[in-house]
Amino acid sequence: MKVTVGVCGGIAAYKAAELVRALQKHALDVHVVMTQAAQQFVQPLTFAALTGHKVITGMWETPDESGGSAASSIEHMDAAQTTDALVVVPATANILAKFAIGIADDFLSTLYLATTAPVIVAPAMNVNMWQHPATQANVETLATRNVRIVSPESGYLACGMTGAGRLAETEAIVEAVLSVLHHRNDLVGETVLVTAGGTREALDPVRFLGNRSSGKMGYAMAEAAQKRGARVILVTAPTALRAPADCEVVSVTTTEEMRQAVLSRLEQASIVIKSAAVADYRPKVQAGQKLRRSGPLTLDLEPTGDILREVVALRHPGMLVIGFAAETDDALAHGREKLMRKGADAIVLNDVSREGVGFDSDRNAVTFLTQDRSIEMAEMPKRELADHLLDEILALRRPRQVLAEADAGLPVAAGD
Ligand code: PMT
Repeated sequence: MKVTVGVCGGIAAYKAAELVRALQKHALDVHVVMTQAAQQFVQPLTFAALTGHKVITGMWETPDESGGSAASSIEHMDAAQTTDALVVVPATANILAKFAIGIADDFLSTLYLATTAPVIVAPAMNVNMWQHPATQANVETLATRNVRIVSPESGYLACGMTGAGRLAETEAIVEAVLSVLHHRNDLVGETVLVTAGGTREALDPVRFLGNRSSGKMGYAMAEAAQKRGARVILVTAPTALRAPADCEVVSVTTTEEMRQAVLSRLEQASIVIKSAAVADYRPKVQAGQKLRRSGPLTLDLEPTGDILREVVALRHPGMLVIGFAAETDDALAHGREKLMRKGADAIVLNDVSREGVGFDSDRNAVTFLTQDRSIEMAEMPKRELADHLLDEILALRRPRQVLAEADAGLPVAAGD
């Protein structure tokens, strides 16, 4: 497989050479594109020697500049069609901004627009530049367009300051590259049923009981699954979001409508992901006309059906069932209790009392809870998190298969 490494002008540019070597160890054919600024830090010859390929340093190269034969931008465009992934290291604030806006004024930014291959960026810069709202907004924009962000680490920076901005470890970048390369088709043949948004229970024709779910987490799960080759059924409560292309969308409002939509499609699903925030109660009686203000009002509520528990009860063999839990206090204990009570294979635990994550945020931080594991996932864009969650969800299949083979008296491969 061919991977293109885009090198930008930052002090960490020399680390791109280490990345090239690390990628080659995974039998990847690595090509390098350098911006003008990158060439102030490292010579193209370094990368040409490491890769055995001519390094693309500009749109319009002459034999003198590139050290090879003259090449046109049209020839270079071949790089956009043939690469299997583009990884940008170090991604400067400038290149992130160009990618986000769509400026194509050099070869790397043109390649970004022209390629349909997955893109990974590993930013590195001064802490203030990294934390600047403009840079953060650009990163968010790229994440929503499926660019995989390998977030910088905190520590002592070349500029003399301390904070976030140091290029991620090479291993983390390699892992991201391998994961996008291998992930592209790992859900082919699966039907993933995702629920999203917050259900609403009407009090009268104009009011409802609802919750703060925006649907962003569920839509991110749906899009990630779809991108990895799954057929996706998205059962969604009302949201302001545009559904990911090519998903089968079923719009519902109440918990009962969501319940029916899910149960009637359960037979088709191989993975069920219940990211929706579902109303646990509904008014026993719904007023036919708008309720008039007349002193204190007491609502008589009755419980709704627990869709997740019903899904677990009706699951067919091999189906994975994943719940979410939104907690405000003693999150881990409540998450564990929910995992046991609902009988799901895993619960994705959100501590929604935390600032900047959970409801309606573009970012989230969760704990992936199973019977025997608890995996912390640090704060990151929901779309990026969705891929990490799918990795863990798919990993649940392995021990299950081994156990099934052992039960059937089949030989179990050592080390599986
Ligand atoms: O939509 P966002 O703004 O992006 O926010 C994301 C989120 C915080 C809503 C989401 O990530 C999340 O945590 N969703 C689950 C919230 C929730 O309702 O948790 P719960 O603890 O009430 O329910 C636990 C599980 O049971 C959930 O999978 C829920 O879908 C399911 N459930 C709950 C009640 C019910 N009657 N039927 C259910 O199936």
